[in-house]
Amino acid sequence: MKLYIANWKTYLNLNQEIALAKKFAYETNSANQVVICPSFVSLYPINEILKNSPIVLGAQNCAPITSGPLTGEVSAVSLSELDCKYCIIGHSERRQNFSESNDIILKKLELLSDQNITPILCIGESLIDHESNRILETLKYQLDIVEQVKKLKKLIIAYEPIWAIGTEVAAEPEYVEKIFSYIESLMLKTKSKISYTLVYGGSVNEHTAKELKKIGQLGGFLIGKASTDINKFLKIID
Ligand code: PGA
Repeated sequence: MKLYIANWKTYLNLNQEIALAKKFAYETNSANQVVICPSFVSLYPINEILKNSPIVLGAQNCAPITSGPLTGEVSAVSLSELDCKYCIIGHSERRQNFSESNDIILKKLELLSDQNITPILCIGESLIDHESNRILETLKYQLDIVEQVKKLKKLIIAYEPIWAIGTEVAAEPEYVEKIFSYIESLMLKTKSKISYTLVYGGSVNEHTAKELKKIGQLGGFLIGKASTDINKFLKIID
């Protein structure tokens, strides 16, 4: 059973997200675990739509505080009240466009763990890191925060090389396998007992998924653009 996480980003408006969630609820069976991460405004109506389906709800982000003056953010407590079981954090689009630091992401990890929401921690190297051979140190830096969260029991680690996101060119399976082995070696060194699943993200679509599924340690996919089309999404699962 693999995990298929649909990250709808800001591709759709409210009505489009609701319509798509209905298709997901109708067309997806329970052979795999599907997680839909729509925009904040859609969480409430989509939670209602998913109530009798095997699909679970996730958020794309959460506030680094529980309550306070932080305009435009949504707390992990509210996400829990909305029945979110997962939450994406540290996505490269947030690290880059909103200058999210490791310290902020650590706060989010802590607050999500307090709410029993499984964090989907995105890590991945930029093209510059990739070309200047700084891949492993970048991943280590992004993953180091995990050990600092006392209550963290379950984690999804989404390896998303930034150069592969939204490009239609996914990383080669052999390459991802090596990176996954490196992540496993880092996780082995952590003192805390965190149960984690490795997923790959970055141009997963109906064409690239078949090869990527050969990755030995693959626990699932984090899918952006292709997850906004139900037919493409179902082909990825098949
Ligand atoms: P993509 O995005 O599938 O559109 O490349 C993946 C992601 O950013 O999570």
